[in-house]
Amino acid sequence: MPPLQFVWDLFGLEGKTAVVVGGTGVLCGAMAEGLAAAGARTILAGRNRERGEERVRAIQAQGGQAHFEPVDVTDRASIEALCHRCFETYGRVDCLVNGPGANSPTPFLEITDEEWNRIFEVNNTSIFRLCQVFGRRVIAEGHPSSFINISSMSAIRPLSRVFTYSASKAAMTNLTLNLAREWGPHRIRVNMLTPGFFPAEQNRKVLSPDRVESILKHTPMNRFGEAQELVGAILLLASDKAGGFITGHSLVVDGGFACTSI
Ligand SMILES: NC(=O)c1ccc[n+]([C@@H]2O[C@H](COP(=O)([O-])OP(=O)(O)OC[C@H]3O[C@@H](n4cnc5c(N)ncnc54)[C@H](O)[C@@H]3O)[C@@H](O)[C@H]2O)c1
Repeated sequence: MPPLQFVWDLFGLEGKTAVVVGGTGVLCGAMAEGLAAAGARTILAGRNRERGEERVRAIQAQGGQAHFEPVDVTDRASIEALCHRCFETYGRVDCLVNGPGANSPTPFLEITDEEWNRIFEVNNTSIFRLCQVFGRRVIAEGHPSSFINISSMSAIRPLSRVFTYSASKAAMTNLTLNLAREWGPHRIRVNMLTPGFFPAEQNRKVLSPDRVESILKHTPMNRFGEAQELVGAILLLASDKAGGFITGHSLVVDGGFACTSI
């Protein structure tokens, strides 16, 4: 078999449907581009239509198949409507990427209940809702699927100045592992992709010059990640051929940040 054919058979997603929630953002937008380039019919879901459609046009210009669907993940009815439209259009969801994110650099003693709940709502409760709504339908349809929750370095190592974000991502770990246990028999794999530090919208306000310096000092590769460097990891977790026996895993892409102490 020619080597390229071998790689395509392993990672190609032709005929598959991928839903990327938060595909309007920097990291998940790049993941959506990667999934579409691998052949998946890709649905970019999010609140920001303008950004979503801009990314869809970029994917289509490269020959990929994609469209935008609006969703507000804090609203269960909105997620149910998204799920309904995805199945109505393609009849199946082979890959669900859950990547909406919210963050705030508030010092611990100043965090209000309102802020705590708002961040948990986007980073954690929405993941519960997305997995439940899509999981229920995938189980009913009876086909295999790969659910990928986007975690964070802060789920592994508590990070200063992002208390609520860290706690919400750590709670996602338990949800993900428990679902991997629960849904193994249904052939739904549930994993996390765990990025290190990648400049994007939601973390711009916490990347002060002193923080940039300490992040880079602690990163053996001495640089930030590029969003495109998450594509290989998402394809591995998405593909039933390449990653078909991987479930309950956190795939860390961080230039070595998590492996170092001093
Ligand atoms: N950038 C990093 O260094 C980094 C590191 C680790 C983990 N992450 C995680 O990666 C994911 C993507 O983050 P990003 O850095 O690309 O940020 P981003 O701000 O570019 O993307 C986040 C997306 O989530 C969407 N979103 C927020 N609230 C929503 C809601 N209620 N309904 C629907 N969509 C909503 C936003 O509109 C945005 O498109 C997040 O889960 C984030 O926590 C990012």
